[in-house]
Amino acid sequence: MTERAVRTHSHEFLWGTAISEYQVSGAVGCPHSNWADWEIQRANGSRRIARGRFSGNACDFKNKYHEYIAIMKELGTNAFRFSVEWSNVEPREGIFCAHALTYYSDFCDALINAGITPMITLHHFTDPGWFAKKGGFENEENISYFVRFCQKVFESLGHKVHFWATINEPNIYMFQGYLRGVFPPGKNNPFLALRVIKNLLEAHTRTYTALKNMAHGIQARIGFVHQYLMFYPYTSWNLFERIPGFMFNHILNTAILNFFKTGIFKVMNYEYRALSGEPMIDFVGLNYYSRVLVKAQMSISNPFVPACYPDEIMTDMPYALYPQGLYDAIVTVSQLNVPIYITENGIPDGKDDRREKFITEYISQVHRACADGYDVRGYYYWSLMDNFEWDLGYLKKFGLCHVDFETKKMTVRAGGRSYAQAIKKYSE
Ligand code: BGC
Repeated sequence: MTERAVRTHSHEFLWGTAISEYQVSGAVGCPHSNWADWEIQRANGSRRIARGRFSGNACDFKNKYHEYIAIMKELGTNAFRFSVEWSNVEPREGIFCAHALTYYSDFCDALINAGITPMITLHHFTDPGWFAKKGGFENEENISYFVRFCQKVFESLGHKVHFWATINEPNIYMFQGYLRGVFPPGKNNPFLALRVIKNLLEAHTRTYTALKNMAHGIQARIGFVHQYLMFYPYTSWNLFERIPGFMFNHILNTAILNFFKTGIFKVMNYEYRALSGEPMIDFVGLNYYSRVLVKAQMSISNPFVPACYPDEIMTDMPYALYPQGLYDAIVTVSQLNVPIYITENGIPDGKDDRREKFITEYISQVHRACADGYDVRGYYYWSLMDNFEWDLGYLKKFGLCHVDFETKKMTVRAGGRSYAQAIKKYSE
């Protein structure tokens, strides 16, 4: 990417885009997922998904992936990150679907033939319905089901896929599902939340070991994907804003990164040591969007609101553009001493009037980090196209491509094309 990065690390820089299966195929494409159940539930009389929407078949990715691969090429990308949907591969406990594995194998071939390096995520927020009914990652004994699924996928694709991300963002899975309750199972229980994170870290470690022991395991690069999400007080002296942020930062970031440094996950009196005794990762996948500014307000039911400073540019979600944060995140995760891939970075921008600025400024921070000697080896924009944004349904538009969800027609946005320009600029 930069002369220095290329000289120091001599790796082809990966310029990619990213998706997850449920977000592009929806409940119709993933009918056995716990999200397919979740979407049809009601809580306090309202639907779970914004505006009462259902995901349907989202972008109909399975039938349209050849067209999307053509767009990946047109944009000049050479990498793609996607998830393998566990509930499609193992729709019922212990019953593996050969057809689903063949689909992923064909898809990988199509990417590779187009010169695009695949990166597989083995868990991206969704669980099979049967696994969720057994308590999912709340129960330590369930981890072995996940490891078995990962082994199946690796057995089928390990010879053609080099990059493997075990679990996407345990911190967000826990935060949304066990503290905010806006993802399944819709709980609000801090003790359970800690146990879930601990089990996800253990699931990562056990999967890493299991895959390394399989054919092609040693050569494979197996990593972990972390969203670096930091809370800052709106007013630095305000303790009401500092203290909650401090706690969240510890649980959502520091404790998890410490686990990968030391093999110990510790939050106050809660301590867990990896069974293997040492952290295991070949790379860290860093997802970064922005920081959260915590502002106190006079309301007992809702004492804190996310905010932004008057001179900042907001995205369509409650956070502003904050490119400096990506550099800071790279510096922090570099302490793990493994190569870094930015596995997600993108902007919700329905008007497409801030995407170019976002892409230009965030990528320039990646460039700066490489020039300063940090071992960043890839950048994946989230997302290639608009897709199902979980509890927020279809309201948020992250895509380089606009998607008409009625006709499934996709069109590359002007702001999306700025990614192609950035790739060209930094690849010369
Ligand atoms: C998740 C994606 C999500 C994105 C944008 C990340 O936390 O991995 O699934 O769409 O954020 O909100």
